[in-house]
Amino acid sequence: MLHSQAHIWNHMFSFINSMSLKCAIELQIPDTIDRHGAPMLLPELVEALSINKERTPFVYRLMRILVHSGFFVKQRITTTTGNDEEERYGYLLAPASRLLLKEEPLSLRPFLLAMLDPIMMDPWQHMSKWFQNDDVTPFHTTYERSIWDHASQEPKLNQLINESMASDARLVSSFIIKHCAGAFEGLTSVVDVAGGTGTIAKAIAKAFPNINCICFDLPHVVSGLEGSKNMSYACGDMFEAIPKADAVLLKWTLHDWNDEECIKILKRCKEAIPGKEYGGKVIIIDMVLKTEEGDEKSLETQLFFDMLLMVNLTGRERTEKDWSKLFFDACFSHYKITPILGLRSIIEVYP
Ligand SMILES: C[S@@+](CC[C@H](N)C(=O)[O-])C[C@H]1O[C@@H](n2cnc3c(N)ncnc32)[C@H](O)[C@@H]1O
Repeated sequence: MLHSQAHIWNHMFSFINSMSLKCAIELQIPDTIDRHGAPMLLPELVEALSINKERTPFVYRLMRILVHSGFFVKQRITTTTGNDEEERYGYLLAPASRLLLKEEPLSLRPFLLAMLDPIMMDPWQHMSKWFQNDDVTPFHTTYERSIWDHASQEPKLNQLINESMASDARLVSSFIIKHCAGAFEGLTSVVDVAGGTGTIAKAIAKAFPNINCICFDLPHVVSGLEGSKNMSYACGDMFEAIPKADAVLLKWTLHDWNDEECIKILKRCKEAIPGKEYGGKVIIIDMVLKTEEGDEKSLETQLFFDMLLMVNLTGRERTEKDWSKLFFDACFSHYKITPILGLRSIIEVYP
């Protein structure tokens, strides 16, 4: 019984891990410790933060849980004055916290701040209500419109989504350009459909100057953005028509949509690319859900993403079987999965 009680407490209070981390990021604790360049004593940390200086014991308690959850480490500092030896502890960043620094180009900070913003957290409060009503998603139960319609009217949500997607796109583009250049060989044009503010299109255009890249997204995301010599923006609705190119890139796009919607998008993609004999293809970057093997943590992360999609969007994470059904239903002939991006894969789909 006591074991069950502890199990429930741990799950019930999981949000304390997220909220403590969010608080540390908002107070810029990782950046402050990183700038210090040596183990940082509690009073030094408190002095450097923009907070009420009476909060020292509370900063200690916040740091204690974040040390426990693996974001900071405590290092012993021994100082000797005369015969007296004093032992104190200073804080350092743990490896995971490097990905939370403001100036780190591949930082997960914008993604974390978006996911834990009240705008994105409120729909979780409506999940059970949604199970009982016939709204499209819990997001609709909360805001009475889709996340994309809401983002087009709420500049704060638009900014949170665009910045968080751009931060992930920086990480993914640096990886695919280094390790998956083969996927872009022979192409003269690529359209990144639902490409956000163009981070990936810009990176591809820079790495492959012979490829003409288009970032295609909704008007409220791309209007006013300027391209370059071989990179441009186009706006529209991917359910209507997609600009023509040798290849269509769909990163973190299909998982937002249900099967029926995905088939519509894939059919528009097929119309936008050349036929089989001319080398047209769709390059998808998304998760391939592992149901059996794999480590427990990775499975949990994939299930978290799947629930995120259930609450905010109509989509889901898919197994290889689910993906292959989508491709064949959208009249593509074959596909190749390269599981190269941690929990995500590159899936090349051919007409
Ligand atoms: C999860 S974000 C992915 C952004 C980008 N592909 C990335 O991974 O960095 C989904 C994108 O789909 C765009 N989107 C939603 N509905 C769309 C539509 N009907 N036509 C074009 N883009 C759309 C959103 O504006 C958003 O930028």
